Amino acid sequence: MSALLQMDNAGMKRGIVIKDDWPGYSLDLFTYPEHYHDDIESVYIPHGVIMNRTERLAHYIMDDFRDDNIMVLCVLKGGYKFCADLVEFIKILGRNSNKYLETRVEFIRLKSYLNDQSTEDLHIIGCRDLSFLRGKAIVDTGKTMKALLKHVETFEPKMVKVAGLLVKRLPNMAESLTDYVGFEIPNRFVVGYALDYNEYFRDLNHICVLSRTGKMKYKI
Ligand code: HPA
Ligand code: MG
Repeated sequence: MSALLQMDNAGMKRGIVIKDDWPGYSLDLFTYPEHYHDDIESVYIPHGVIMNRTERLAHYIMDDFRDDNIMVLCVLKGGYKFCADLVEFIKILGRNSNKYLETRVEFIRLKSYLNDQSTEDLHIIGCRDLSFLRGKAIVDTGKTMKALLKHVETFEPKMVKVAGLLVKRLPNMAESLTDYVGFEIPNRFVVGYALDYNEYFRDLNHICVLSRTGKMKYKI
């Protein structure tokens, strides 16, 4: 039993692993906004799969937090959909098990990408006083920065957990920072489900791979 649990924990830590050679699903198998027809190459992770994995993460979170209230710090803009869906699942699970956790959400905005490249230039926008976190347990969703965690720790929350829908497989992976991982993916640029390419594609429900046309069309 304990070996099983360990395996489960290890799997949870890494998330669902998407292999380097996964091309995504053909576009005609799914529906998506017509205006992106030429701009995406494949459906990398369908919306339904994202939702069910998020529900699973909500289960893990409920198990860990038990009677603690949860302060959620959502990292905008890319994390807004994941955050909203995760909080919704936590609330539904609470309702169904008579374990109502108080959930509060605050927002912080980070920006570091230009086109499909990460830049050294990390902008923290709307970083207000986070002292409301003191003594609370928080779950942080979205692309999370070491610096942000360090900042949050200064307010001495009771417990800090990081949830990330996607963790990219990099030589120097940030995976160890993320307690709840949806999917571990290769280091490639994806869009949709609030992830953007120069502010486009946030309105796409699936996580998709850009086509060459899409990259050119919205390049700045
Ligand atoms: N897509 C969009 N935004 C991002 C990504 C990505 O793959 N990685 C970091 N920010
Ligand atoms: Mg972005």
